[in-house]
Amino acid sequence: MNAEDKAMLAVDFCGLDFQTPLVLLSGCVGFGEEYTRVEGFSNRDVGAVCLKGTTLEPRLGNAPHRVFETPAGMLNAIGLQNPGSAQVIESILPGLDFDETRFIANLSGSTVEEYQAIARLFDDSPIDAMEINISCPNVKEGGVAFGNDPDMSARVVQACRAVTDKPLITKLSPNQTDIAENARRCIEAGSDAFAVINTLMGMAVDVESRSPLIGNNQGGLSGPAIKPIALLKVHQVYQVCRGHGIPIIGQGGIASAEDALEFLIAGASAVGIGTALFYDPLICPRINAGIVDYLKRHGCAGVGQLTGTLRLNDAPPAPCGA
Ligand SMILES: Cc1cc2nc3c(=O)[nH]c(=O)nc-3n(C[C@H](O)[C@H](O)[C@H](O)COP(=O)(O)O)c2cc1C
Repeated sequence: MNAEDKAMLAVDFCGLDFQTPLVLLSGCVGFGEEYTRVEGFSNRDVGAVCLKGTTLEPRLGNAPHRVFETPAGMLNAIGLQNPGSAQVIESILPGLDFDETRFIANLSGSTVEEYQAIARLFDDSPIDAMEINISCPNVKEGGVAFGNDPDMSARVVQACRAVTDKPLITKLSPNQTDIAENARRCIEAGSDAFAVINTLMGMAVDVESRSPLIGNNQGGLSGPAIKPIALLKVHQVYQVCRGHGIPIIGQGGIASAEDALEFLIAGASAVGIGTALFYDPLICPRINAGIVDYLKRHGCAGVGQLTGTLRLNDAPPAPCGA
């Protein structure tokens, strides 16, 4: 990719220089080092890498099975297995190459105080930004219980905001009635950006044993199966964000350049790649190339010109960036 193509892909995300609009999603790349062992893979192909969800204390995660493939997607209930915030900061962050890309911590807690304590720890670390995961469906307390209640969501964001000036990205749950209202409350509480969406709750059943196939009984559904839902949620959240200049990392089933373009047009400034990495670890350079090709064909100078250019069917068509 030449310098002109690279310039087309660059995105300013909350003051962070993303070299491409692609973000590797939390839980799908370990702690940022996992895929660097795959030949041909490079963190330089993405704007940022979100680390696995991190709690204050270490967690062993859920009993197996933790993942199950479903039509056009997968269920997972990992249960936030992680070594705890202090260990991530002391042992994992020093091994990451911050010249290659931006790194984002993913915060999970059972109480508002726990989220705040983790944010305080990461504030005093080299991490570039923090994603507040108030939408994890796979833990018994906290997680989605916070994310589905706008009051609780705002309280978590406010508590984290009080202890850090680093960019705060709130990860919204699709498992709620009014995602736009929740986003509005989180903006008031100090959120700088959003990740839209986390997984949808789902279940698979083994008919012989008549038991759920996931150890946790239910899990989070991801992959292409959730893409139409995710696109609508990005569109809805963008209606709230556009007036505030708040960017969105659109995600949910992206597996091609065309998928990524749909999310950008619907209102995302960056796009997440998660489940697709499980079956195609080298997908990112191809998505980048496809986005550049589209930008050239449509006379767009850069990827930012696409964000929110969706023309609803009752509006007249307009040129790129209008
Ligand atoms: C195995 C697995 C583990 C995940 N772990 C986390 C996590 O720790 N924190 C989080 O915020 N999201 C987690 N997610 C959700 C993803 O980051 C992403 O939001 C979701 O999978 C939708 O994108 P996708 O369809 O491209 O995978 C996980 C997803 C998968 C598949």
